[in-house]
Amino acid sequence: MQTKLMEKFKELFGAEGDIRVYFAPGRVNLIGEHTDYNGGHVFPCALTIGTYGVARKREDKTLRFYSMNFEHLGVLESSVEDLKQEKEADWTNYPKGVIWAFGQREMKVEQGMDLLLFGNIPNGSGLSSSASVEVLTGYILKDLFGFDVSNQDLALIGQYSENNFNGVNCGIMDQFAIAMGKADHAIFLDTATLRYEYAPIKLTGAKIVISCTNKKRGLGDSKYNERRSECETALAEIQEVVGINSLGDLSEEQFEQYQSAIKDETRIRRAKHAVYENQRTLKAVEALQKQDVNLFGELMNASHVSLRDDYEVTGVELDTMVEEAWKVEGVIGSRMTGAGFGGCTVSIVKEEAVETFKEQVGKAYKDKIGYAADFYVVDIGDGPARLA
Ligand code: GLA
Repeated sequence: MQTKLMEKFKELFGAEGDIRVYFAPGRVNLIGEHTDYNGGHVFPCALTIGTYGVARKREDKTLRFYSMNFEHLGVLESSVEDLKQEKEADWTNYPKGVIWAFGQREMKVEQGMDLLLFGNIPNGSGLSSSASVEVLTGYILKDLFGFDVSNQDLALIGQYSENNFNGVNCGIMDQFAIAMGKADHAIFLDTATLRYEYAPIKLTGAKIVISCTNKKRGLGDSKYNERRSECETALAEIQEVVGINSLGDLSEEQFEQYQSAIKDETRIRRAKHAVYENQRTLKAVEALQKQDVNLFGELMNASHVSLRDDYEVTGVELDTMVEEAWKVEGVIGSRMTGAGFGGCTVSIVKEEAVETFKEQVGKAYKDKIGYAADFYVVDIGDGPARLA
């Protein structure tokens, strides 16, 4: 892989100078969905699939970008002096946004670079290919230009660029999971304080299977920002009657007590999801600590039901995938993962049932939806790294 990328880089940009190779993972969230902008907890992990980057510093101000995933776009050029979000800049708006965000943090990038990327995260799958590119870019800037910045800050910078350069009001989960990833561990993160713990994931005799609906979605044009503002309004209404900072501050009982302050039935359901999902995440992590994988699975299933009925971010593709998964013997838990509206589901499946799972769910999905799903048995990997 690395050799192929290096060859392509040299062919496009020349072989001279100090050429370096990097990697940043994608992520999957096990539970705690749409809680990260509600002051709640999340439980994601980094994957061993992700984005590779080959980079070299330039002496001038020019930025040259090339992606082996979008070869038809050719080399896209820009300059460190002209960092604007532009439609024509396509995927390069992500690295450009990070370079811009470094500047906002008093780390102005003065020189350009040549950057070639290749990602093996299915594009648009909800496994955070964009956050992976953001964290990768930050890591490359740090290494190439010698900035003193922690991985946690790389996550915050990535999120800042996504919010303020690319216009998606995402929370911190994706960039954090990627920047702070640790092999064989999930990250139990409190998004209100950024306190986190690594939890070992030992699924004796079971695998994490990601099922991709192949329904493409873009966060920008999805209802993501709308859900976020519905929750903000609901929070403001509850704050009229009780002093809380976020929906994540509420227990289920407190929510039942105060929910009548929310003046709209839809918003009640949105807020209910945020509160209950946060509590489910706490329970799920506790279940895992007690090695009660079955309870963990039940909480995953309940998470999907809540995302389907109360938060309404699933849709027929994700629902079909999950509901078919629930029918397969040996499935411990299954739910949509990420923003929703398409993308992937995550399932914990007993090893001996994985093949049946792929066949049965794959067939039922194709029969109902009309096109095929893809399945990936994944491993939990480390955060960003320089490979060469
Ligand atoms: C997207 C966002 C995250 C998070 C999830 C939903 O992946 O980027 O911040 O809100 O959706 O849990």
